Amino acid sequence: GEPGHPGVRMLILGRQGAGKGTQAERLGRLCAVPHISTGDMLRAAVREGTPLGRRAKQIMDAGDLVPDEVMVGIVDDRLHEPDAERGWILDGFPRTVGQAEALAEITAGAPLEVVVDLAVDNAVVIERISSRRVCPGCGTIYRADDAAIADGTCPKCGGHPVLRDDDQPEAIQRRLDLYEQETAPLVDHYRAQGLLETVDGLGTEDEVFARILAVVDARTADRG
Ligand code: AP5
Repeated sequence: GEPGHPGVRMLILGRQGAGKGTQAERLGRLCAVPHISTGDMLRAAVREGTPLGRRAKQIMDAGDLVPDEVMVGIVDDRLHEPDAERGWILDGFPRTVGQAEALAEITAGAPLEVVVDLAVDNAVVIERISSRRVCPGCGTIYRADDAAIADGTCPKCGGHPVLRDDDQPEAIQRRLDLYEQETAPLVDHYRAQGLLETVDGLGTEDEVFARILAVVDARTADRG
C-alpha cells in the first residue's frame, strides 16, 4: 500500500467477469484500504464449512443470489472492522436496490464517494469467465493462459488454480440474467445520486486500472 494515499470509499459494479475482483484487489493495495468482495467472503465460508457456507453453497452453485438480509449483515460487520476506517472498496455488493438502500444506512456517517461501473459486453464476459482460474488456497484470480500458472501451481501459495464451481455454462447464464434484473438498476440509482463513473473495461488489465485510478483520484482529490 501507499501510506500517502488518502483512501477512498467506493464500489465497483459490472457484469460477472467484467474484472471487478482483479481491479478492486489492485486498487485496494494502492489506496491501502480493504478490498471487500462478498463473493470471496462467501467462498471462504464454504471452504471453512460454517453454517453460512453450508447455506450459501447451493445458492451460489446455481448462480442465484444469497438473500439480502444475510448479505447486509455480513457487510455491516465487515465495514465496522478497524481496517475499514480509512475507506473500503466493495466488490459484488450491493447487488440489489434493497442492498444499496441498506448500505446507505450502514455508511450514513462516512458515505460512498464514487461508484465505478466497469463496462464490458456479454460476449467478452463469457469468454473471460470460461478461461478464469481461481486458486482455492489464496483466492488469487488468473487467466487459464497465464504463464505464472503454466505448471498448474499458484506462485503465491502452491495451491492448484481451478474453474470456479459457478463458472459452468448454466450458472453463468443464470448469473448474467440476474445481473440484468437485479443489479443493472443500480447504475441509474447511483447516476441519480451523482456518484456514477462509467469506465471502459476492455483492454489490458493495466489500461483498465489506469482509467479507474484517474476517476478515483479526481473524485478524492479534495479529501483530507
Ligand atoms: P462474485 O464472486 O461476486 O461473482 P460475480 O459477480 O459472478 O463476479 P465475478 O467474480 O464472476 O467477476 P469479476 O468481475 O470479479 O471478474 P474477475 O476479476 O474475476 O459472486 C459469486 C456468487 O456469490 C453470486 O453469484 C451469488 O450467489 C453470491 N453473492 C456474492 N455477493 C452477493 C450479494 N451481494 N448478494 C447476493 N449474493 C451474493 O475477472 C474475470 C476473468 O477475466 C479472470 O480470469 C481475470 O483474470 C480476467 N480478466 C480481468 N480483467 C481482464 C482484462 N482486462 N483482460 C483480459 N482478461 C481479464
